[in-house]
Amino acid sequence: MQIAYDLKPSSERRTEQFKPKDDVGFGTLRTDHMFLMDYRDGQWCEPRIVPYGPFQIAPGAVALHYGQSVFEGAKAFLHDDGEIYTFRIDKNAQRLNRSADTLCIPAIDEAIQIEAIHALIDTDRLWFPMQQGACLYIRPFIFATQDRLSVSPSETYTFCVMLSPSGPYYSDGFDAPIRLLITERFHRAVAGGTGASKAAGNYAASLQAGKAAAEYGAAQVLYLDATNTQIEEVGAMNHFHILKDGTVIIPRFTDTILKSITSESFLELGERLGCEVRQETVKLDQFIADVESGEIIEAGGFGTAAVVSPVGSYIFEDNRVLTVGDGQVGPHTRKLYQTLTEIQKGAVAGPEGWMRQVSRRND
Ligand SMILES: Cc1ncc(COP(=O)(O)O)c(C=O)c1O
Repeated sequence: MQIAYDLKPSSERRTEQFKPKDDVGFGTLRTDHMFLMDYRDGQWCEPRIVPYGPFQIAPGAVALHYGQSVFEGAKAFLHDDGEIYTFRIDKNAQRLNRSADTLCIPAIDEAIQIEAIHALIDTDRLWFPMQQGACLYIRPFIFATQDRLSVSPSETYTFCVMLSPSGPYYSDGFDAPIRLLITERFHRAVAGGTGASKAAGNYAASLQAGKAAAEYGAAQVLYLDATNTQIEEVGAMNHFHILKDGTVIIPRFTDTILKSITSESFLELGERLGCEVRQETVKLDQFIADVESGEIIEAGGFGTAAVVSPVGSYIFEDNRVLTVGDGQVGPHTRKLYQTLTEIQKGAVAGPEGWMRQVSRRND
């Protein structure tokens, strides 16, 4: 791919490595540039890296009215050799295309997506925050741009990649488990819907549930299936629980659960973790009984942002609280977190192909 570079003048862009003194938070900062590519006349064209800034978009653009928009979330890490590596970026590229297919958006060749992401990271590599546990959060997305009010797939789109220098997710340590609200009032997805894709509208639809969770002092909702009998996933994480023999259980991927790359990584790492990691249909009644009896000793969520998010307790709409184990972060959960973050940081080698080095433009 021939990328056009229309960069900020050097006087306006970062010229030294970013060494933040304070916690930069997660997802708030931006780098100097973004990658753009348009779709028109049946093909993706004009790949370019330009200064990060507002888009010009028609008020009638299909994405603004009917939510024809999909996105991804991935991370890049700085290793001790001074090079930046993306984590399983091929899986994100595949998933963006699966989501795109669900929303009738034209696919983008995976190799082109990866090239675009790596070229942007290379351009803004001075923005990598030099801080323990920091990363570059990568946000690729596609949105429909045609100015048309009929409900049908747009004929034009924009693919954008933006980066966010982010601090460690657990700046205060990995010691504060969250509480989840188990509710029958909100559902994230139904069979035949868009639940297995990262469609922008799925997240708009989760905001009300998030507000309800906050009213119960919970961080997020643990979604059940539409019959309120099975555990599905959390708003932006898959759910997991751990049995007293150390077995990790993740609800089986269906068309109502997003196929988390973090979950897939733990499923593939099973042997290295020294425990079995498997998927099952998780019945709510059995889950509650097993937490109460002590058969389930730990639980949490898996996702790119936090990697592992320990859950200490659940709350129901009648204010009943279900505490997992002693409500603290357990050793198995800690081991999951350490194993994957060490691979990401390059402290230990991951399976072949998981970490991809971002090459330098003039290499
Ligand atoms: C609904 C949902 N489930 C699960 C996940 C976790 O997926 P991943 O591990 O690929 O970030 C995410 C975040 O991407 C999500 O939005």
